Amino acid sequence: MDSYVPILHPPGARLRRFIVVGARAKSSADFKLHALGDSGGRMDILVRCIRAAMLVADGVRRDTQLDLLLLGGNDAPLALRMDGATIRFLRPDERRNARLLQRALAARHAGVDAEMVAPGIAAARRSLEDLAGEAMPPNLFVLDRHGDDLRGVRIADASATFVVGDDLGLSEAHREALVQCGARRVSVGPAEVHTEDAITLVHNELDRRAVATG
Ligand SMILES: C[S@@+](CC[C@H](N)C(=O)[O-])C[C@H]1O[C@@H](n2cnc3c(N)ncnc32)[C@H](O)[C@@H]1O
Repeated sequence: MDSYVPILHPPGARLRRFIVVGARAKSSADFKLHALGDSGGRMDILVRCIRAAMLVADGVRRDTQLDLLLLGGNDAPLALRMDGATIRFLRPDERRNARLLQRALAARHAGVDAEMVAPGIAAARRSLEDLAGEAMPPNLFVLDRHGDDLRGVRIADASATFVVGDDLGLSEAHREALVQCGARRVSVGPAEVHTEDAITLVHNELDRRAVATG
């Protein structure tokens, strides 16, 4: 029995969406929970992104979606979408979130293009171009240390999508595809930070703006 009941983080008018590109992250449940990095194609990074993107100290960010793009293994490309509005069983505990992710992947049915695999988690065979194409410029951003400082970037409309790489960063082909989709490069600061920290810094900036604008 699950005793943890996430507290609602009140949804804002703006949807926040993060796309994390797992360059070699397994697109199947075929990885070991005690060796997420080696056996999962750096699935450990993606699991840390779940906490950074979806959780605050007192519960779930209901205004946030997280797309984990899994590009490793035979089922790639596969996108797992976590929707803060409906997701359940998230924890600050990485091991439990890794298990949630693994179970979601194991629940997929062979040959099905898109399906719900757990409460608030959908799986679909999608490329980065597919995912980025859901966002309308100027609301599509690529997180890049050499981009424009996010603090000075106006986010025009009701929602914003941010694409971030894993430890390998984004490939040239992915960068080019994002440019074609109209993405703007934005920086969260001068230091090259870890993937999950870049997400945290974006949330922090948007949280501050939300308070400032009421
Ligand atoms: C650990 S970094 C990748 C480092 C990789 N060696 C590279 O050259 O891209 C992971 C991701 O975090 C994001 N990132 C890291 N530092 C950032 C910064 N200062 N501003 C914006 N995004 C950043 C980028 O999307 C990057 O692909």
